[in-house]
Formats: sequence, structure tokens, C-alpha cells
Amino acid sequence: MSEVLANLFPEEKSIPTSITLPGYMEQREYLIDGKMVTWHGDMSPVASPVCVRIGHKTEQKIIGSTPLLTSKEALEALDGAVGAYDQGHGVWPMMSVAERIHHVELFLSKMREKRQEVVNLLMWEIGKTLKDSEKEFDRTCDYIVDTINSLKQLDRNSSGFVNEQGIMAQIRRVPYGVALCMGPYNYPLNETFSTLFPALIMGNTVVFKPAKYGVLLIRPLLEAFQQSFPAGVINIIYGRGRETVGSMMETGKVDVFAFIGTNKGANELKKLHPKPHRLKAILGLDAKNPAIVLPDADIDNAVSECVLGSLSFNGQRCTALKILFVHKSIVDEFTTKLSAEIAKLKFGMPWEAGVSLTPLPEPGKTNYLTGLVDDAQQYGANIMNEHGGETINTFFYPAVLYPVNSKMKVYYEEQFGPVVPIVPFEHEEEAIDYVVNSNFGQQLSIFGKDSKTIARLIDLFSSQVGRINLNTQCQRGPDLFPFNGRKDSAEGTLSVADALRVFSIRTLVATKSTESNKKIIGDIIRNRESSFLCTDYIF
Ligand code: G3H
Repeated sequence: MSEVLANLFPEEKSIPTSITLPGYMEQREYLIDGKMVTWHGDMSPVASPVCVRIGHKTEQKIIGSTPLLTSKEALEALDGAVGAYDQGHGVWPMMSVAERIHHVELFLSKMREKRQEVVNLLMWEIGKTLKDSEKEFDRTCDYIVDTINSLKQLDRNSSGFVNEQGIMAQIRRVPYGVALCMGPYNYPLNETFSTLFPALIMGNTVVFKPAKYGVLLIRPLLEAFQQSFPAGVINIIYGRGRETVGSMMETGKVDVFAFIGTNKGANELKKLHPKPHRLKAILGLDAKNPAIVLPDADIDNAVSECVLGSLSFNGQRCTALKILFVHKSIVDEFTTKLSAEIAKLKFGMPWEAGVSLTPLPEPGKTNYLTGLVDDAQQYGANIMNEHGGETINTFFYPAVLYPVNSKMKVYYEEQFGPVVPIVPFEHEEEAIDYVVNSNFGQQLSIFGKDSKTIARLIDLFSSQVGRINLNTQCQRGPDLFPFNGRKDSAEGTLSVADALRVFSIRTLVATKSTESNKKIIGDIIRNRESSFLCTDYIF
């Protein structure tokens, strides 16, 4: 294996030309108030998780750099968004829903032209496989289309009047103001755009800061953003989160904070806002989703779902299965089969056909994972699969750990990587206690057949997590389903329809249904005197 790993990374010359980057990408541009500005200050190098082999050595490939903006530019971006919102009187928030949809459609058509570039950068920047990178791009386009359709429906539902107890009213959704959108590195396009576009299309203006990694891939879309939206509606900045985002929060001018990251990071940033009650937060945070494999589970199905759940994109999904509770009576068979299935997974470079395990983008990640494995071994766990935990540079071969117990760090910490801890249990209460006492509550998976046992667990867990998956891995999709979490795992609910609601608030115009009031309202509508109070219907 060590020989195989030694040759894991390619020589420069063997990288297929179809995915070769056009060269070192020194990206100095950022978008503020409709202007593409060139940065002349410090830059942050972008190291690809992909290394290249030079003789006997492997070196991480540096593929470009991005601007390290300061609080000054961040505040300029914020001013751009505040100006474009203009207390709700700006062009964008005052625009009709149909016109805003038109701008988003324009962006979408320009975005589709950049598919190849963005997909290549997803592979180079975060090591996502070609298939999954394409899926992320296409799923994001579909999400935008679904968002448009959902908004049309929402708008149709609000285009009439309600009459209740002698009071007539039109109830519509209006934007909050300025939204700050930040996404995670594991879905730098999809998760970011799944808050950015609902925020925009509802009439908010936005400051968007790309994720820690997966930053260059926004570059091909900068012109599309600039050309598709009025000045200041979307502002895109780069740099260290604490300096840029912190200073924006301190102004109190951010109205909506959409953030996917750690609860620690979210707490620190939220606290900086001087008027917390004015800040609406939509947060997707940490998770330690468990699988509970009951004695009567279909072991083959549980194994294949747990492999997918634990190791898709090397376990770097917030929804990944991060700890497996397996009943003692089947744990040996389960562990053997799981290890055998993992051995079948192809590892290599993101562009290789059929590959599923790839190098990791976070600096120091392989050392962190090795530390978790060492710690678990110290408290009695064994590495159950051949070559488990072997590393080379940015690549970590999955490690199946068994038996895992509560003394080990991996029992609590979100590994966000290819380490699969297995906890044997005798009584269901052991797994129930884990869920109840966990700080996190995103999702869990139950594997079993007995309807009575499953029903009991569903009832116990429905107050603990946002989604209970039966005989299936945890996942966010389909995007029409609600995606949320309890405790430190999330704030607010996202789905195509929910996202439109979280970035807007209902405002109503109400009056007693007298003849004179009806006449005023009738005149406003007939003469098209108001953009809020109208009965336009989007077909
Ligand atoms: O990282 C968290 C993502 O929302 C997970 O989405 O379950 O579709 O991979 P997914």
C-alpha cells in the first residue's frame, strides 16, 4: 500500500489537458457597488489538495491567490449594499417580483456558460470528484430554477385580498434589508447559493464572502453577477472572516446573517452585532449524525448506506454519518462487511473515472485525523480495515475504528473526514442517551425492520433532531424537503420554499371594509399607483 500511496499523486505531465487550469490564477478582482475593483494589497495563496509528484517527492500545487481585503473594503461593500437597499426604497427592493426574477434568470443563463470552469475549479480547490462537482453545479442551477418557480407560486398566493371580521387586507412578503451570506468549503457553490439567491430574489441586497476554500471558483461568475444585477445589489468580497465579517457585524447594518460553518464561529459573529434583536440569523452548523443499526437490520443495506453516509466526499458533509452505533449481536459481521466495502472504493485524483476517495483541502487535516485515530487507539479502539489511517501528504485512507467508547475524542468531535467510529451497544438506551446528551441535533439514521422498535425510536428522536432517516443515510436533499437542526446544529429551516420565507417578512395593508376604503384600494390597484398594493398575477 505504501507504494501505491507513494504513486497516488500524478506527475504534472500526466494530468489530463481537459482539466488543466489555464495557469496560475492571480485573482485580484472583487465586486463593490457594481464596480469590479482591482486589489493591490496582500494576497492569500490557494493550495490545491491535489499534489504533484516530482521524483520521489510530492508537493501541494499552488494554483492561484485571492485578495486579502481588510475591514475598509468590507465596510465599503456593506455601504454598497446599504445604499442599494436604501431603507427599502432602492431600485431592487421596490422592483416587481417579475422583474427581479428576470434578473436572476439572466444570471443563471450566464452562469450555465461557466459550467466547465467552475467544475474544474471545484476539483482543484476542494478535491471533489468530477461527478460530484458536476452534480454540485447542476444541483445549484436546479435550485435557482426551483426558487424562481416557488417565488412565482408564493407571489400568486399573495396577489389577492383576505376578508376577516370586517377587515380586508393584502398580505405580502417583503425583504429584511441587507443580508450577509457566507457558505462552507465543502459545498462552496451549492450551499452558498442556496441562501444567496433566496436572499436576493426576495429583494434583499447582499454582501457575499466565499468560503475558506473553493474561492477561485467564484471568479468565473463575477462578471455574471456584475452584469445581471443593479449596482450594489450584490457585493462580493474576500479575506479573513474575523477582520472583514467582524467589522461589518459591528456596524449593526447587517439585517440577515446567513452562515454555514461552526456554531463557535456563528456565536462569535452574532455577538458583535450591537442590536441582536435586529439580526435575523439563518445558520447551518456542526453535526455529529449517528447511525443506529438494530439487531434485525438488513446488514448489507446498512453497510452500503453507512459507507455512503460516512465517506461520500471523504466524510466532509455536514450531513455525513459521523458515528455508528451497531448492536453487539451483529457488530462483527457489520464491521467485516463495512471494511470490505470500503476496500472496494477507488481512491485517486478527483478527475479519475470511478474515484470516490480524494485528497483533503484543509491544511493540517491529515494530522488532525491521525491524532483522532491515535487517541482512540490509546483508549482501546483498533483500526479494523487494512491500511486504515495511512496517509500521504493531503490524502488520508479511511480508518474504521472499533470498539469506540466515550473516553475517545472521536466519540464527540465532528471529524469531518474519513474516520468511521463504530460503537457497539447492548441496549438501545445507550444510543438514545448519546443522541439526547449530544450538543448537536441535525439528523440520524435508524437501520432495522421491527416496526414497533422503530416507532418507539422515532417518537423519542423527533424532539432531538431535524430529520430521522429509516434504513437510509442522512442527507440534505431533495431540496424541496426542510433542512434544519436542533441544539447547536442550526438556526432556521431551509428548503426551496422555506428559504424564501426566512429572507422575508410579511407586511400587510389592512382596512375596515367600508365602501370608501374599498374605493381607495380599488383606485390604487386600477391606476397602478402602488407597487406593494397590486393584484398582478405572474403566470
Ligand atoms: O454539508 C452539508 C450539506 O448540506 C449536505 O448536503 O446531504 O446533499 O450532501 P447533502
